[in-house]
Order: sequence, then C-alpha cells, then structure tokens
Amino acid sequence: MRRREFVVGALGAGLAASTMPDRVLDGMPEALSGASQGTSRSTGGMASASQLRTAIPFGAAVRVDYLADQFDYKTAILEHCQIVVGEGGLKWIDLRPTRDDFVFDQPDRLIAFADANGMKMRGHTLAWYGAMPDWTQQIASEAEAEGELVRHIETVVGRYKGRIPSWDVINEAIADNPTADAPFRDSIWYQRLGKRFLELSLRTAAAVDPDVQLVINDYAIENPTEQCRAKREALLAMLRDLKDRDVPLHAVGIQGHLLGDQEIDKEGLSRFVEEVSGLGLEVLVTELDVIDNKLPASTYDRDQIAAATARDFLGAICDVKRPGAILTWGITDRYTWVPMWFTRDDGKPNRPLPLDVNYRPKAMMQVIEDFTRVPA
Ligand code: G3I
Repeated sequence: MRRREFVVGALGAGLAASTMPDRVLDGMPEALSGASQGTSRSTGGMASASQLRTAIPFGAAVRVDYLADQFDYKTAILEHCQIVVGEGGLKWIDLRPTRDDFVFDQPDRLIAFADANGMKMRGHTLAWYGAMPDWTQQIASEAEAEGELVRHIETVVGRYKGRIPSWDVINEAIADNPTADAPFRDSIWYQRLGKRFLELSLRTAAAVDPDVQLVINDYAIENPTEQCRAKREALLAMLRDLKDRDVPLHAVGIQGHLLGDQEIDKEGLSRFVEEVSGLGLEVLVTELDVIDNKLPASTYDRDQIAAATARDFLGAICDVKRPGAILTWGITDRYTWVPMWFTRDDGKPNRPLPLDVNYRPKAMMQVIEDFTRVPA
C-alpha cells in the first residue's frame, strides 16, 4: 500500500464520516484535500476526525519532463505525494514566449498526470518579478501593464478553472531588505502599477475562479535575523492592508528554503503564523528544502542537521496552526535548484531534499512523515 493512498484514503473515508466541515480541511479547498471527489482509496480503516486533523497533504515541485521518461522519478512522486506543483511551466517565461502566445504544454501534461493519479495540482505563479520573458520589459504604461496582467491571469486561471484549486497568485512581493517606506520588491508590475498590482492580481483571479484558493507566497522569514524580522513585519503589513480593504485572499505560502547553517526563529515564526491566522488566513508550506552549502562535508551529519532544521521549522508552524499542505521544492537531491546559487566549497553535491539522488529516503523524509502522516 502506497503511503499516498493510505493518507488520501484516510482523508477521504474519515472526512466523509467525520463532523468536519464539508467544504475544506482547515482552509484547504476540498479539491486539494481530496475530500470531495471521492478520491478516497480507502484502506478500509476509518481514521477518526482527530487523526484526520493531523493528516497534512504532502507534495512536491515537479519537473514534468522527467515524469515522462524517468521511471524512478515518477515512482517517487506517486509514492510520496498527494499534491504536485510545477517547478516551471506556469511562469511567464514558460507560458508566454511572445506577447501574443500562450504555451500550455507543460502545465497541461502535469494536470493530466495529477488527474490520472488522484493528485491535486497547485499553480505557481501569476505575478512575480522572476522568470519574465524579455518582451515584458516593453510594457511601458500603467494601462498597458494592467491590460497584460489581467489578460494573463484571466487566460491562465480560466484555462484551469476547477482543476487547479490553489494558486500562488503573488510570489515574493516583499523586498529582500524592506523598510517602512519601501516594503515592496521591484518588478515590472510594481514599477508600472505600484502596490495596486497586488489587489489587481487577486481580484482578477477571484473573478475568474471564485472557488480557487488565493495565496501570497514568500520566503526568508524564519531566521532570528533583522532581515527576517523586517520581512515578517512587511509581509504582515501588506496582508493587513489587503484584508482591511476586503481584497480576496485566503492563505500565505511560507516557502521554507531553509539555510541549514542558521537556526530557526521558532518564537518569531510561531508569532508570525499566529498573526496570519488572526487575519483569517491559512498557511501553506510551499517550497521546503534545506540549503546545505555551509554544512559539514559528512553526508550523515548534513542529513541530520537538515532534518533537525526542517523539524524546527515545521514545528514552529504546526505548534500554532496546521498548514493546509506541506510541499518540498523537489523530491530528490538528483534534481534541485540549490546548486544554481549555493554550491559547496568542497564541490560535494547538495543534499536539500527528502530523497537522495537514488531516491532513498533521508532523515528529512522521516521528519515530513512525522508531521504529515495519519498516526497508526
Ligand atoms: O529549460 C532550460 C534549458 O533548456 C536551458 O538549457 C537551461 C540553460 O539556461 O535553462 C533551462 O531553464 C532553467 C529552468 O529553471 C529549468 O531548469 C532556467 O534557466 C532557470 O532560470 C530556471 O530556474 C528556476 C527558477 O525558479 C527561476 O524560474 C528553478 O528551476 C526553480 O527551482 C526556481 O524556483 C523558485 C520558485 O519559482 C520561487 N521561489 C524560489 C525558488 C527557487 O529559486
């Protein structure tokens, strides 16, 4: 029995009989929790409502091309994940080769894989500074920017309406070193629209698909540093402003690209989650991995430190609020973005993810299981 089937089965079976609200599992749209589509592959055992409340859907970012031609990769995703998100595919650079073209090949293949295997797919991402095609630099005016952003969101969210239940509508809107006067990161959208791009993106996505979970996603809020504290405060100020103006928004994505050599600010992170929850928002862990370039050379020591860091991070969140989902940014060390920016001085390959290059579970996978599994 695959773990995934057990968890989805328990979720599906137990939720059907539990007194939990029909609509969502702690703010996660039913489509992501697997409750509504009867995707329960019940194991026969009925999990109790209390057990179900500790079952957190787990998933990973996926490189869709590898699903087609790498059996071990596909097997690992099927074995461990209830949710998938494209590591690429739904970014402007992938979707929009020219101003007039939309290329949906990658997300179409990923949603087909998800549908065929009882999985749910998250959308990443609609409004970001990164991975933008060169032609977008020609967007010259506020009116043009509004037109292009609305057209993009309407076309993309519309195509997957009812099939992608949760979107990172806005990604990394907060500056790396925010100040009260300058909290936002530069992007073509901020340059042309100011902070209005936030509301415009969220309202447009909500108008296209009223049932979609609207998420603002960001990173580097989990360490006991002035930078992380400032980012938490700037993020909260933005969230409060949006909620005060009744802008549709449902959740905060805490990416979780953890620096393995830095401790987790458990108190600061827990307090942040309390504040987010106090605004009526859910939390998702959206891109968990551990950047190990400054950790010891020993793979055993590195894996143990990475697992402990992940445990502290997940504990600081889950002590306050059960996240609607936990996703890692990849599933295997074989395919990770980390060496793009964080190669090790000793030249050893990075080990940021739950499975090693040969798809063997590492200590981090046990930590994830401890937080996501339904207890026996
Ligand atoms: O596919 C092309 C390939 O054909 C070409 O030969 C190669 C040479 O440059 O580039 C390949 O595209 C790369 C793509 O990843 C697919 O591997 C892009 O250059 C590269 O920029 C892109 O990087 C991605 C990055 O976002 C920018 O989109 C990473 O894989 C991806 O892990 C990373 O993910 C981000 C999240 O979206 C947001 N949060 C942070 C996270 C990590 O940076």
